[in-house]
Amino acid sequence: MKILFLDQSGKPGGAELCLIDIAKPYGDRALVGLFADGDFRKLLQQHHIPVKVLATQPIQVRKQSNFLQALASVGQLAPLLAKVVQTAKEYDLIYANTQKALVIGALASFLARRPLVYHLHDILSSEHFSRTNLRIAVTLANRFASLVIANSQASHTAFIAEGGNAKLTEIVYNGFDRQNYQTVASEVKELRQQLGLEGKFVVGHFSRLAPWKGQHILIRALSECPPEVTVILVGDALFGEQDYVQELHEQVAKLKLENRVQFLGFRADVPQLMAACDLVAHTSIAPEPFGRVIVEAMLCGRPVVAAKAGGAVELIEHGRNGFLVTPGESEELAQVIQTCVAEVEMTATIANHGRAIAGQRFDIVAINQQIAQLLSQRFKKPAHPGGEEGRLQTD
Ligand code: UDP
Ligand code: GLC
Repeated sequence: MKILFLDQSGKPGGAELCLIDIAKPYGDRALVGLFADGDFRKLLQQHHIPVKVLATQPIQVRKQSNFLQALASVGQLAPLLAKVVQTAKEYDLIYANTQKALVIGALASFLARRPLVYHLHDILSSEHFSRTNLRIAVTLANRFASLVIANSQASHTAFIAEGGNAKLTEIVYNGFDRQNYQTVASEVKELRQQLGLEGKFVVGHFSRLAPWKGQHILIRALSECPPEVTVILVGDALFGEQDYVQELHEQVAKLKLENRVQFLGFRADVPQLMAACDLVAHTSIAPEPFGRVIVEAMLCGRPVVAAKAGGAVELIEHGRNGFLVTPGESEELAQVIQTCVAEVEMTATIANHGRAIAGQRFDIVAINQQIAQLLSQRFKKPAHPGGEEGRLQTD
C-alpha cells in the first residue's frame, strides 16, 4: 500500500515526530507532503523518508480562527489542493496528520477518489480550539475519513463528545524505539558538567515554550524548593509564542531564579538531556492529548511528574510508574519535587517501573503493526510496509 502522508507543519512538534516513526517503515512507498518548509523536512530526509513541500506560502488559519477567517483562507488553499490531488493519484491512501492536513486531505480524498485516514493528535475541545475549527474538523472527519486514529483515550473521548463518529475511531498510542533512549553514562556526566549541573537536583522540562505547556508553573514551584534544585527548560517557541518567552524570562528575574533556571532552546539530544535530569516535569495547564515527553522520560529511566489530565492519566499511575499533580498547582508540584529530593530509593523504584512498563506498552514495532493491521482491515489490501501480509519491515 502506497501512502501519501500530509502534515501542515514545517516544525518538529510531537505529531510530526510521531509521523516520522509511522512513515519510516514504508520507505519509498510513502511520501510526506508538507504545507510548510522547515526543520521537520530536514529530519524526514535524515531518516530517508521521501518528503515534498507542497505549499509555497504559509496557511493563515490559526487554532482560534473564526468562520470568516477560515473562509478567507479557502482561496489561498486552491493551488495547494490542486497539488495534493495530483500527487494523491499516485498513492492508495491519504493519511492526514494534522487539522489543516485534514481539511486539504478531505477535499483531495473526494476529488482524487482515495480513502482518507485522519490521525487525531489533538483534544478537540474549546480549551484548545475555536468553535469553528472544532466544527470543521469533526464534520470533515465524519464525512470523509474511513478511519480516525486517536492518540489517546482522552482525544477519542473529546472527538466523540464533539459529535465525532465512534465507529470510525480507534485508539493507537505513540510508539517509541527504546534503543533511542539508552544513553552512555560518561556522556551524560559530561553534559551535566558542561551545563554546570553537578551537585544539583535537576528538574527538566521538555516542551515547546507555549502558555498551555505551563513552564511558568514549574518556575513558580521552583521558588518554593530548596536552593540545590535547579531547572532546565528544553524547547523553543515553535509557533510564535514570543510574548510567553518574554514573560518566562521576566518571571525568572522577578523571583531571582536566574542562577537556577536555564533556557536551552530546541535540542536534538533529548534522551541525553533527560538522562542528565533527576526528575522530568510535565506541567500542561490544558489536558495533554498524549504527552510524548512523559513516555520518553520513562524510557530514559527518569522519574516523571505530570499534570493530571488528558493522556497523562493514561500513561501514569500515581506512585507506581510516576507522579501526578493537579494541573496549575505549583505548590503540589513543589511538594513532589521535594519528595523526590528526599526519597531517592522510592523514586528510583518508580522510575524503574516506568521504564519497564513504557518499554512494553509503547514499543514502536508493535504500534506500527497495530496501524498496519487497521489499514489492511479497513482498506482490504495488505498495508504492511514491505507489501507482504503479516510481515513488517522496519527499515
Ligand atoms: N522535543 C525535542 N526537542 C526539544 C523539545 C522537545 O525534540 O527541545 C521533542 C520531545 O522529545 C517530544 C516532542 O518534542 O518528542 C514533543 O512532543 P509532546 O507530545 O510531548 O508535545 P507536543 O509539543 O507535541 O504537544
Ligand atoms: C500532539 C499533542 C501531544 C502528543 C503528540 C503526538 O502534538 O499535543 O500531546 O503527544 O501530538 O501524538
